[in-house]
Amino acid sequence: MSTSDVTRRQFITAASAAGLAATLSRSAWGRSPATADKLAALGGEPVRKGGSWPAWPYRDAQVIEAATKTAQSGVWCRIDAPQTGAVATFEREFAQLVGAKYCVATGSGTQALHTCVEALGIGPGDEVITSPYTDPGTLAGILAARALPVLADLDPLSFQLDPQDVERKINDNTRAIMPVHIMGQPVDMDAIMRLAKQHNLKVIEDACQAHLAVHRGRKLGTIGDLGCFSFQSSKTLGCGEGGAIVGNDEELVERCYTVHNHGTSRAGRTEVAGPKYRMNEFEAAILLAQLPGLAERFARRNENAHHLTARLQACPGIVPQKLYPGTEAGTYYVYGATYLSEQFADADRRTFLKALAAEGIGMSGYIAQGLHREPWVDHILGTKVYQRMYGATRLAQYREQLACSRCDEVCANVVSMFASGILLATQDDMDDIADAICKVHEQRDQLREIS
Ligand SMILES: Cc1ncc(COP(=O)(O)O)c(C=O)c1O
Repeated sequence: MSTSDVTRRQFITAASAAGLAATLSRSAWGRSPATADKLAALGGEPVRKGGSWPAWPYRDAQVIEAATKTAQSGVWCRIDAPQTGAVATFEREFAQLVGAKYCVATGSGTQALHTCVEALGIGPGDEVITSPYTDPGTLAGILAARALPVLADLDPLSFQLDPQDVERKINDNTRAIMPVHIMGQPVDMDAIMRLAKQHNLKVIEDACQAHLAVHRGRKLGTIGDLGCFSFQSSKTLGCGEGGAIVGNDEELVERCYTVHNHGTSRAGRTEVAGPKYRMNEFEAAILLAQLPGLAERFARRNENAHHLTARLQACPGIVPQKLYPGTEAGTYYVYGATYLSEQFADADRRTFLKALAAEGIGMSGYIAQGLHREPWVDHILGTKVYQRMYGATRLAQYREQLACSRCDEVCANVVSMFASGILLATQDDMDDIADAICKVHEQRDQLREIS
C-alpha cells in the first residue's frame, strides 16, 4: 500500500467522524442549514452576498505618519543614524519581540536567507536540505551561494518537511537544514533539531511566513542557529519588501551584519565577500509603526482560525493543515487544508473552487507545483560551477532524488486562502466561509453540473 493510500484512509476516517459531529453541531452555530439550497454557480443564492474583508497590507494613520516623518527627516539610510535610526530601533524591538538576542534587518526574506548561508560559510560543494513546497526565495538563498539545494519530501498532512526524508538525504557534504514553516505553522522542529544535533548540521529556519508563531514556548526563528523573516507586503508584518535575521550567537549575527553590508563590518573594514542587502529607514519606520497592535492581531487570527477549524470539522472532505505537538500558536499567513475529492462526489478541486467562489468565498490551490518541477534544475546542472563542484555522479544522483511525490499530492489537493487580512474579520465572516464550504459539500451532487 502506498503512503498516499494510507494518508487518504486516515483523512477519510477523520473526516467521517467529523461529519457526524457536524450534523449535531450545526444548529449550535445559530445559522440556518443550507441543505435545500441550489449552488450559486447554478443560479442559487450565494452564502455571502457582498461584504468586504479587512484591507491588506495593514495601513493605519500611524503607518502613514511614519512614512511621512521619515521622508521629512532626510534620514533615509541606516548609516545616517546607525544607533538611533528606525532600522537600528526596529532590530532591537523585533529581537525582543521574538525572544532573540540579536537581529539584522535586510531588504527581503530572500536576502536574509542568502546572508545566513554566506555567514555560515556554506558555498560551492556544500549541500543544504530544504522543502520543495515554498517560495522560490528559499531556494534563491542557497543558489546564490552556489550551494546545492537538496529537496526533501513532505508530510502530506502538514505540508511540512518530512524529517525522515531529510535524514535519508543527509550525506558528507550536507552542511545545513533549512526548514520552512509553511503557512506560518511550525515544522516538526523536535525531529529537525534532533537530526541536526546528531549529524552536526546548522539549522537556518525559514520563518519568512511565521512571525510570532510559537513552538514549545519559543517563537519560530529562534529555535535553530539563525532564523529569517520576510516583510513583503502580503506577510502578517509587512513593509513592501523587507526581511530580518535573528539569532543568539553574537559573533555569528555580527558576521551576518558584515556579509549583508557589502562585506564591511561595523568597524568599517571590508572583510569578506558580501552583497549589499541593507534595510532602509522607510521600511523600518513602517514596520515599527505596526508593532503596537501586532500581538493583538496575531491573537485575533488565531482565535478566528480556531473557530474556522472547529466549524470545518462539520464538513467532511476539507481537512485543515495538520499541526505538530508543541504548536502553541500559528501565524496563519495562509489558512490551508486538504481537499478530498471523494467526499465531494469526485468533483475535481477546480470545480469545488469555482462553486465556492460563486458562494462568495475565494480560495485557491496555493503553490501550483513544487520547486523540484521548475526549470532551475536544468539551469544549475548545466552550469560549469555546479558540474565542477559536485561532479557528474552526484549530479545524476541529485536529479534522481528530486522526485517528491508527496509534494505533488499536496500541490494537487491543497485549498487555501491568504489570511493576513481575512482572519482579522469577524466571527460571522468566518461562519460565512464555513457555511459556504459546508453548503458545497451538502450539495456536492450538483457539482457534476458545473463545467
Ligand atoms: C517561505 C518563504 N521563504 C522565503 C520567502 C522570500 O521572502 P521575500 O519575498 O521577502 O524575499 C518567502 C516570501 O514569500 C516565503 O514565503
